[in-house]
Amino acid sequence: MSTTTMPSARPPSRLARLIPEPPVTCIEDLRRLAERRVPRMFYDYADSGSYTEGTYRANSQDFAQIKLRQRVAVNMEGRSLASTMVGQPVAMPVALAPTGLTGMQHADGEILAARAARRAGVPFTLSTMSICSIEDVAAEAGPGFWFQLYVMRDRDFIGRLIDRAERAGCSALVLTLDLQILGQRHKDIKNGLSTPPKPTIRNLVNLATKPRWCLAMLGTERRTFGNIVGHAKGVTDLSSLSAWTAEQFDPSLDWDDVRRIRDRWGGKLILKGILDVEDAERAAESGADALIVSNHGGRQLDGALSSIAALPEIAAAVGDRIEILFDGGIRSGQDVIKALALGAKGTFIGRAFLYGLGANGEAGVTQCLDIIRKELDTTMAMCGLRDVREVDGRIVARSPYRAEPRPAAPRPAAELRAVPMAEAARR
Ligand SMILES: Cc1cc2nc3c(=O)[nH]c(=O)nc-3n(C[C@H](O)[C@H](O)[C@H](O)COP(=O)(O)O)c2cc1C
Repeated sequence: MSTTTMPSARPPSRLARLIPEPPVTCIEDLRRLAERRVPRMFYDYADSGSYTEGTYRANSQDFAQIKLRQRVAVNMEGRSLASTMVGQPVAMPVALAPTGLTGMQHADGEILAARAARRAGVPFTLSTMSICSIEDVAAEAGPGFWFQLYVMRDRDFIGRLIDRAERAGCSALVLTLDLQILGQRHKDIKNGLSTPPKPTIRNLVNLATKPRWCLAMLGTERRTFGNIVGHAKGVTDLSSLSAWTAEQFDPSLDWDDVRRIRDRWGGKLILKGILDVEDAERAAESGADALIVSNHGGRQLDGALSSIAALPEIAAAVGDRIEILFDGGIRSGQDVIKALALGAKGTFIGRAFLYGLGANGEAGVTQCLDIIRKELDTTMAMCGLRDVREVDGRIVARSPYRAEPRPAAPRPAAELRAVPMAEAARR
């Protein structure tokens, strides 16, 4: 899919409003709708990567290089996508990735996405930097979701956050390791990203074209970082919040901190942001239950390998010691099955579900999960498999572009029959 930002969508003309929208058939349709409906600064916040966005683009584009083997005349009845991720049953091996500011793609976005995920039987992961708080999501969407932790300098706050996640019934902790310092996204600076948006002329003009978003946002109180305001020391309002976040991501985070968090958190622990085999070895030794091969959706080290390019080597090195999960660039069920084939036990989607949320709220996240489920199911069947747990490297086609010696042309059958046995033996 194209990852370049399209020019600002104009509001539809009166005639266009009379013509019904064509049905949504793929994630790209949801992206286009989200681009029309979400204020520019929040749409750009999702649809962007750091610096040149080279790694962001590679995450999606590298999937296209992997080709699948088409198998035929295999009984395709009774297929199953059910699997497990960190020992928990999932309806398909696809979880919603933690994404900050999700409640700005749509009012109460984290609650809506968590509900859609629960209905679809897949895990939802709440970001530390969410708009809806851990307690709000647990109350409105039910317990059992996963919580993602950023390590901050204020270790008391981190300890309390872990305790809050435990009390709210979170069933896994996703510890993000690849954001000790922040990669720069040019668009966020140019757009003056803030939450809620500052009432500048540019923002007000843009907001005037997003009536649906504005109306929904007026109907909620949740418009700032719900896990932080009122919980971190000295953070009571927006100005103290921005000062706090700017200096809180902890650059000193190391493997000793991982061990300390492992000891404090009683449940399943997933380490997120592993892209190198040496780090994967450390992760396997750390006592964590799983690692996520991830480059933060191309938002941190620009120039890093795409996640899918990094996956096979990591899976081969440590896949027998720690569960391998994966994210980065997934925009279809075909992408999911390719990640499974290259060694992942399960996958996460970030932007794909954010586009659904921005396009149509809770129903849009459901649309996104339905699209991915159907594509995954159909692709698995066409590869000749009926159980997603059987997917492995055998479904990947060898590169067809190799020079092979030309085989001898087949001889007509009649001519072959006419050759006497003794002569045929001499040939
Ligand atoms: C808008 C946005 C916000 C994100 N915020 C977080 C976050 O708060 N914590 C985190 O660990 N990862 C965060 N990520 C990274 C995602 O968890 C995930 O690694 C990435 O989105 C996967 O790539 P994909 O969007 O191509 O599926 C964010 C990604 C996006 C797009």
